[in-house]
Amino acid sequence: SATAHKDASGDLVVGGVALPDLAAEFNTPAYVLDEADFRARARAFREAFAEYDVYYAGKAFLCTAVAGWIAEEGLHLDTCSPGELTVALRAGVDPAMVGYHGNNKSLPELRRVVDAGVGRVVVDSFVEIERLAAAAADLGRTQTVMVRVTAGVEAHTHEYIATAHEDQKFGFSITSGDAFEAVRRVLDAEHLELAGLHSHIGSQIFDSSGFEVAARRVLALHARAAAELGVELPEMDLGGGFGIAYTTQDDPAEPARLAAEMTAIVEHECRALGLARPRLSIEPGRAIAGPAMCTVYTVGTVKPVRLDGGAVRTYVSVDGGMSDNIRTALYDADYSCTLAGRRSEAPPVLARVVGKHCEAGDIVVKDEFLPGDVTPGDLVAVPGTGAYCRSMASNYNHALRPPVIAVRDGVARVLVRRETEDDLLATDVGA
Ligand code: LLP
Repeated sequence: SATAHKDASGDLVVGGVALPDLAAEFNTPAYVLDEADFRARARAFREAFAEYDVYYAGKAFLCTAVAGWIAEEGLHLDTCSPGELTVALRAGVDPAMVGYHGNNKSLPELRRVVDAGVGRVVVDSFVEIERLAAAAADLGRTQTVMVRVTAGVEAHTHEYIATAHEDQKFGFSITSGDAFEAVRRVLDAEHLELAGLHSHIGSQIFDSSGFEVAARRVLALHARAAAELGVELPEMDLGGGFGIAYTTQDDPAEPARLAAEMTAIVEHECRALGLARPRLSIEPGRAIAGPAMCTVYTVGTVKPVRLDGGAVRTYVSVDGGMSDNIRTALYDADYSCTLAGRRSEAPPVLARVVGKHCEAGDIVVKDEFLPGDVTPGDLVAVPGTGAYCRSMASNYNHALRPPVIAVRDGVARVLVRRETEDDLLATDVGA
């Protein structure tokens, strides 16, 4: 994160807190969240996209404190499950500032969402439009709606996190005509109010050409709605997906540049189509949370393994693994790491940081050069774990999910405590 640095003794200091001190107090593994950095990233989006609504995608990482920070920084909050909505409401976030996503929302779920006064629901199927209309009618409310469309874009990212090509579960296809039909049905529903169209092309994207194609196709549908149905849709959401640097090879755009590029694209298209520019919104998750967190582990074993050809790879086992960071195993993600608790002049060795789970794919950092004297008891920090690590953490092997510790101005405080075996046993009702 922006406030991380190494002090003279080699201790990694984040938010004014030395990680060895943090590890001594809270134990490892632990997620360390740099509050000032998180807030600065949220604010940077808010300011760069000043004419837009910026929804922080809570799926990246959410807890009560973070939902509160998002509200304080003036962002909206995107949720996609009853649990995320509960956290938002518990944090006191204004429901009007909350959006609700999902491809399979049940009737009771939608009733709760409407009842809570959620600002907008992004609908994803015809049956959902019926359910939502029924829930709103039942509660005597009018619900604002966005229609999620599939823009038919091949985003250049991992297959599992690309969402705008036709052959996947999200959205109404524009090409098949379903998207237009969805627009018609929402407009026809007495208790639904259509705000506009929504497109999310995928995640960890570096190139704005995908957004450009998506904006062009979505706005073409806005134009068709104007021409054939006589409605000017007031809003368009281009989703999230802004990439971050996991290693030094990635080169993410600053929010200000993204904002300028996206605005230019939309203005250009609107001029070409003779449309008034709709109000825009975006949903960044990773770009706000990702760089603001690191994970601190303690090394337990060090095992050099001779590879074919004679090279050596040093397997460094830490006290966590795929249960606190599934991204390496699931998406072949690249992370880096560093010794966090001492200085070393030892020549570097090619290392692989692995966890303690019973499977060979339990890799946290595939390749990194660590000092050759790395040894049990050393602290290792993996930066950039703020997005989709704690939020996708599991209890595999009955692991206890690590705490989230916020650091700020030299003070550390627990936002999410470490799980205990009692937490695990609480759901196991016994024989
Ligand atoms: N909006 C919608 C509708 C989404 O589905 C997502 C992410 C976002 C916004 C936020 O995307 P972001 O700005 O964070 O890239 N678990 C995967 C990422 C899955 C993303 C799912 N949807 C990973 O760890 O890479």
